[in-house]
Amino acid sequence: MSTQNQKVAIVTGASQGIGAALVEGYRKLGHAVVATSRTIAPADDADVLTVQGDIADPATAERVVTAAVERFGRIDTVVNNAGVFVAKPFTDYTAEDYATVTGVNVAGFFRLTQRALPHLLAQGGGHVVSVTTSLVDAADSRVPSVLASLTKGGLQAATKSLAIEYATRGVRVNAVSPGTIRTPMHAPETHDFLAALHPVGRMGEVADIVDAVLFLETAPFVTGEILHVDGGMSAGH
Ligand SMILES: NC(=O)c1ccc[n+]([C@@H]2O[C@H](COP(=O)([O-])OP(=O)(O)OC[C@H]3O[C@@H](n4cnc5c(N)ncnc54)[C@H](OP(=O)(O)O)[C@@H]3O)[C@@H](O)[C@H]2O)c1
Repeated sequence: MSTQNQKVAIVTGASQGIGAALVEGYRKLGHAVVATSRTIAPADDADVLTVQGDIADPATAERVVTAAVERFGRIDTVVNNAGVFVAKPFTDYTAEDYATVTGVNVAGFFRLTQRALPHLLAQGGGHVVSVTTSLVDAADSRVPSVLASLTKGGLQAATKSLAIEYATRGVRVNAVSPGTIRTPMHAPETHDFLAALHPVGRMGEVADIVDAVLFLETAPFVTGEILHVDGGMSAGH
């Protein structure tokens, strides 16, 4: 059961894939977790509170933060993991694609982080960590996806900006920038194609990203870092 000394992490996009594994990872670290997504089911673990909602909707950030404080009394970490990926040639993107991808990837990050930050400061500090994509730093002609670069590139820039803004107040701000990770985001028939995009010749695993997030969580001298976990993608081809 939670105690007053137990840290509390909010994890978005927590119903499956990387987010679901991050919930387990933070629990192993000893944190209580507020896990959110549109379809997330209630948890058996008393130290995991689930909150359903569309992260693009400003009301969701409000409900998630309120629920975290009501149930656990504090917030120490925000993990901005919810994200959508739509890859297509630039001129094929629709207005709906734009609204969906910017709504989840950018507005979701902005509203939740902004709403939670005063609670981190109230604890004397905390950690904001976001999941971006290596395509930001290593665009690939085989995967045209400017909306991923526009939104996740924005998160990477915001990570550095917030790291500096809050550096003297104990809040660290970092990002993990993955290559392609084996999650429900990718249909199995695409795995061979996706593996070949990486210099190491394979996709990454969910545990690779969880380990990187938890490293950043427990690294007090690391802030403003964009940690690439991408099988060499950002280094070159
Ligand atoms: N897998 C990869 O290859 C890869 C590569 C680079 C970066 N990433 C990033 O890593 C993060 C996690 O990816 P993943 O592969 O684990 O994705 P995933 O398996 O597709 O899961 C996405 C999660 O986000 C939630 N979500 C989607 N739209 C949402 C919305 N409007 N409001 C609230 N939650 C929403 C989903 O839950 P609900 O459906 O219940 O809402 C789900 O829990 C994303 O930010 C993604 O961009 C992934």
